[in-house]
Amino acid sequence: MGSEPEVMRDKAAMRLWSRSRRSQGKTVALVPTMGFLHDGHLALIRTAHPLADLTVVSIYVNPGQFAPSEDFSTYPSDLTGDLKKLADLGIVHAVFCPSNLYDYEGGFSEMSTADRVSSAVSCIEAEDDGSGHETWIRVEKLERGLCGKSRPVFFRGVATVVAKLFNIVEPDVAIFGKKDYQQWRVICRMVRDLDYAIKIVGSEIVRESDGLAMSSRNVRLSPEERVKALSIYNSMSKAKYTALHEQTTCQEIKDIVIQMVDKAGGRIDCVEVVEQESLVAVEDIRTPVVICVAAWFGKVRLIDNMEINPCGI
Ligand code: PAF
Repeated sequence: MGSEPEVMRDKAAMRLWSRSRRSQGKTVALVPTMGFLHDGHLALIRTAHPLADLTVVSIYVNPGQFAPSEDFSTYPSDLTGDLKKLADLGIVHAVFCPSNLYDYEGGFSEMSTADRVSSAVSCIEAEDDGSGHETWIRVEKLERGLCGKSRPVFFRGVATVVAKLFNIVEPDVAIFGKKDYQQWRVICRMVRDLDYAIKIVGSEIVRESDGLAMSSRNVRLSPEERVKALSIYNSMSKAKYTALHEQTTCQEIKDIVIQMVDKAGGRIDCVEVVEQESLVAVEDIRTPVVICVAAWFGKVRLIDNMEINPCGI
């Protein structure tokens, strides 16, 4: 391609860009991100590239998916670095990086980053008394299990902002990483239930050479925590091997993960073995399942998963 992507901050400009290209018969792929791009994001963009004529990347740290106690204010960001990476990649046509997608009372597009962060957090807190953003999309069953237990507002925030991005960018195809397995399934279900004419593609997890799944949160791990965090991948690999070679129950599979992460010094938030589509917990591995893990290393919560497809299925 060779040229720099067009950068748009305004949703009307983004919609116009997309509509005018689609009216010329071009197809559009969207890769939604929260920025601080790493090789995992670049893999999503490479997956998107052959699937449509034009590739749009969105960069937006969505306040609506963080609870007040979570790491919205410290979520890493580097817009200048991100834009350089996208330009260097040479296959991105447009970048959509709005300053705010939620029309909270008064808005905050003119505010400084610090004001924006504290305003967004207080808007989330204020949301319970009816002020601010009122409309949420809930994928009722899929959002409840796994990470939904400890992050009850997360998936409605994700589904809502992704629906907004879909309405603004109007893509033909959108790519989501399978590292966020539950998120990917929630979006697939939302698209099906709400009749979005958008193909959702799940892209495989990208790992560091030692197995740690790439995540923007990895930079917040100390060198010691980074070593401990490997226990997630190592324990899931052992659990998967055991499941494929021995007669095991899902409880035994979960115990392998719990013990190895615990021994390494991590704190398990959630380990489940669930069916790949419904995310319903199973006791035995007879159908394609996925082990989903969330664990804390210091102040950093990491998630990862591994699919297990028993032979003959
Ligand atoms: O996976 C993410 O980065 C975010 O949850 C997403 C899909 C961009 C929505 O904010």
